Amino acid sequence: MAKKTTLSPDFSGTTMDIRCSFQSLIALIVAALVVGAVYLRTECGYLVQEDDQKLGMNGKSSSEEKCDLFSGKWVFDNKSYPLYKEEECTFMSDQLACGKFGRNDLDYQHWKWQPHHCDLPRFNATALLERLRNKRLVFVGDSLNRGQWVSMVCLLDKAIPPGRKHMHNNGSALITFKAKDYNARIEFYWAPLLVESNSDDPVSHRLPDRIVRAQAIEKHARHWTDADILVFNTYLWWRRPQMKVLWGSFNSSDGIYKKVDMLRSYEMALKTWSDWLEIHVNRSKTQLFFMSMSPTHERAEEWGKSIGGNCYNETKMIVEEGYRGRGTDPNMMRIVEATIDQLQKRALNVQIINITQLSDYRKEGHPSIYRKQWEPLTQQQISDPLSYADCIHWCLPGVPDVWNELLYAYICNDASN
Ligand SMILES: *[C@@H]1O[C@H](CO)[C@@H](O)[C@H](O)[C@H]1NC(C)=O
Ligand SMILES: *[C@@H]1O[C@H](CO)[C@@H](O)[C@H](O)[C@H]1NC(C)=O
Ligand SMILES: *[C@@H]1O[C@H](CO)[C@@H](O)[C@H](O)[C@H]1NC(C)=O
Ligand SMILES: *[C@@H]1O[C@H](CO)[C@@H](O)[C@H](O)[C@H]1NC(C)=O
Ligand SMILES: *[C@@H]1O[C@H](CO)[C@@H](O)[C@H](O)[C@H]1NC(C)=O
Ligand SMILES: *[C@@H]1O[C@H](CO)[C@@H](O)[C@H](O)[C@H]1NC(C)=O
Ligand SMILES: *[C@@H]1O[C@H](CO)[C@@H](O)[C@H](O)[C@H]1NC(C)=O
Repeated sequence: MAKKTTLSPDFSGTTMDIRCSFQSLIALIVAALVVGAVYLRTECGYLVQEDDQKLGMNGKSSSEEKCDLFSGKWVFDNKSYPLYKEEECTFMSDQLACGKFGRNDLDYQHWKWQPHHCDLPRFNATALLERLRNKRLVFVGDSLNRGQWVSMVCLLDKAIPPGRKHMHNNGSALITFKAKDYNARIEFYWAPLLVESNSDDPVSHRLPDRIVRAQAIEKHARHWTDADILVFNTYLWWRRPQMKVLWGSFNSSDGIYKKVDMLRSYEMALKTWSDWLEIHVNRSKTQLFFMSMSPTHERAEEWGKSIGGNCYNETKMIVEEGYRGRGTDPNMMRIVEATIDQLQKRALNVQIINITQLSDYRKEGHPSIYRKQWEPLTQQQISDPLSYADCIHWCLPGVPDVWNELLYAYICNDASN
């Protein structure tokens, strides 16, 4: 893959191109004179040092990795953060609106992610909307990916005047947010295991037995074949020792189930997913991303508290550098990486957005008891808040906004095509 030094032609017309390259040239000369470094203009208008440009290349092709956006620390910043106000986001979800549901300690909204060797570009909603003009950005996955999609919609919301945006949600697996003036669609598609499963109903999907059709993805994938940017995740719904794998279809009587070790079935499903991508994705059009595992904080003993606790009552993050809890499974991540490496050998680039480490510190970032309960709480639950605290999802504004800032950096600084 060649390093891109000019604007991609599909982002702007010819005249823009000339003007922007001229601007880039000036910027380049000025920057080189001032600090002796080479700067490049990204597709969203901000400048990056030439070395940082490597971040668009999977961090693998360069011998010295100067900029790893995923390695860094959290810095308290109550000037710039949160990036939007909870109550001002038109499309906020009651599952994630922790302030609305009584959370008083709001420090979790004020943290900025500071990579060790560079800065994250400032999120510019207008610039991203320009980048998404006439395009489709689709998040595909589970409720964590849906949370990230809500965050993205909130991040863009303020930049779009009332009446110039539209949300379409008719209870199907696909929810569409549209920015009319840009003809841009930012969508979420519910497919918690990516492949077909008995949890595919976007509303009622809590079933005791998890059955997965590890070799079938078409039913879902046909909804995002023509997307320009795809952001996948799948992790939480696999957290059990075994899965029931189905050969045959869900409504034929000759289906055969077999219990399969979870890791093996995860590998099968990702193989199906990657085969689909290899055949269907237009390499010169579509940008592909995979969100790494979002950690849970369900066992307080992992961070040195007494057994039986969880994220309930937590108001401070974990400060120990490199802390890794057991709310994620490194074996699953290795399968993701191996699958994506295989795709790379077949000339298809999927960028992993590595949010696991940076989110692992944030034990205080979950809704805990401060969210809408879908079913009324029982007396017993009310007397024992630990029993119903949500230590899986994330409050908004909060951690997923940073995931989107990372995604933004990659969408804009695209060296893959
Ligand atoms: C994710 O980033 C952290 C911090 O840089 C690093 O320690 C870890 O190895 C990365 N994981 C993957 C799967 O890339
Ligand atoms: C921001 O943080 C500083 C230092 O902790 C504090 O004094 C100030 O009141 C905070 N401001 C807001 C708006 O939270
Ligand atoms: C955001 O992007 C728009 C469009 O590219 C640009 O006009 C504007 O100056 C940018 N805003 C900031 C604060 O950089
Ligand atoms: C829901 O909307 C989608 C378009 O996003 C459409 O294809 C589908 O038929 C609709 N379903 C129902 C039940 O109205
Ligand atoms: C399975 O059921 C779906 C709807 O529930 C239907 O559209 C499809 O045709 C059925 N397939 C077979 C093979 O019966
Ligand atoms: C792939 O995408 C490019 C850029 O949008 C387009 O020009 C080309 O026709 C597409 N190729 C196919 C086979 O659809
Ligand atoms: C939660 O915090 C409150 C106030 O600090 C305290 O009274 C209570 O015992 C704590 N509960 C648990 C389960 O830690």
